[in-house]
Amino acid sequence: MSDIAKLQIGDKSYELPLIKGTENEVAIDIKSLRGSTNGIITLDPGFKNTGSCESAITFLDGEKGILRYRGYPIEQLAENASFLEVSYALIFGDLPTKEQLDKFHADIKEMSVVDDDVKKILDAFPKSAHPMGILSSLTSALTAFNPSSVNTDSEEQVYKAVVKIMGKFPVLVAYTMRKKLGLPLNYGSTSLGYVDNMLKMMFEKPNEDYSINPVIKNALDKLLILHADHEQNCSTSTVRIAGSSHVGLFASLSTGISALWGPLHGGANQAVLEMLEAIKEDGGDTKKYMAKAKDKSDPFRLMGFGHRVYKNFDPRAKIIKKAADEVLTQLGVEDPILEIAKGLEKEALSDPYFVERKLYPNVDFYSGIIYRAMGIPVEMFTVMFALGRLPGWIAQWKEMRSRKEPIGRPRQIYIGENERPFVTIDKR
Ligand code: CMC
Repeated sequence: MSDIAKLQIGDKSYELPLIKGTENEVAIDIKSLRGSTNGIITLDPGFKNTGSCESAITFLDGEKGILRYRGYPIEQLAENASFLEVSYALIFGDLPTKEQLDKFHADIKEMSVVDDDVKKILDAFPKSAHPMGILSSLTSALTAFNPSSVNTDSEEQVYKAVVKIMGKFPVLVAYTMRKKLGLPLNYGSTSLGYVDNMLKMMFEKPNEDYSINPVIKNALDKLLILHADHEQNCSTSTVRIAGSSHVGLFASLSTGISALWGPLHGGANQAVLEMLEAIKEDGGDTKKYMAKAKDKSDPFRLMGFGHRVYKNFDPRAKIIKKAADEVLTQLGVEDPILEIAKGLEKEALSDPYFVERKLYPNVDFYSGIIYRAMGIPVEMFTVMFALGRLPGWIAQWKEMRSRKEPIGRPRQIYIGENERPFVTIDKR
């Protein structure tokens, strides 16, 4: 293939360079387009055909169902690695040595205390507040408690900001859950592993010793790994674009949390469980809900199905489906919702509407069933997604700043009124 694309506009032709990635993905480089064509731009709502950056973090082939972080296949990471190892690889480029991992963990622990005044902010929220709203606000509030800006040219300062947020974020997550459950706040213990401590901070009752169930711990590790990054999705693009204005890491992350909250993105895991519950309450008639999903006059969508990029099975969904079966068996939980989910999946996979549109179960279809078996309240599901996505957002923010990307500022095609004169209010 030539490395030039030719564009013909009227009688003028333009040459645009092609850019090739390490996995042979090809892009037309349009950086010079507007200048050389005297104002012509490209238009692509939802960025379905537009690359916003070059990135060395995550590779995803939606047609083949491939997902790799820093080159490591997701299946191998989910099977063998810990969430902290994966976080390190995403943020710094390679899986850590034992010494690097120990140091990373020790530095995180050192930074994990959250200013006690943050509790006052937490107290001000009504108990009915959605945990994602609380988490986004508390993350943003961290900026006020850590005002010094990070010089992103200094590796040391970036590292400090990374370990700070990796330490404090799980505390904020645990705060939001304990607020929901009316439990006193809990710091856990620095003697525990990163994920073990998260569980202790979330679940320990004030009057009981907390012992970690290895089935729950392993399931959480796996879920967090599967959610850790997914290249330029809605929340990650939001973090990168907010960070491109040179606002700090914590403020950029809080924008990502808000974007993740929506039901078309991370909020789908809560929506899936609510949908499965509704089907159960309605007598388990999956066919009725399949028909609703296909009816274009009905806004209902089969939550947990479809993906912007995967047009084949979401590899994360395969791993999660297997994990859901294992976790429920190991915990001795019989959840009728799992059967409804499997029935719905079976029907959708053989239904022409879903087959033609290449709509497969996504990562969120089965994750809620595992979270529920672990005792996590439904409204906390998207918070758990955010906890997993944290290292991905950090890695993407760090990469964006280190590549000195320009401020994100898309163009538009104006379709409003042409110039018209101002009319005073009495004459309108
Ligand atoms: N149920 C019924 N129809 C659907 C669904 C669905 N879940 N998803 C897509 N479609 C139809 C859609 O109506 C459209 O049909 P038509 O061509 O006749 O107009 C066609 O499939 C293409 O859909 P689209 O909305 O243009 O696709 P998109 O790439 O813009 O949207 C999506 C992707 C994930 C937002 C969408 O599939 C969806 O809303 N799914 C349900 C929500 C969900 O599970 N989100 C979690 C995504 S994975 C976790 C994450 O990374 O956030």
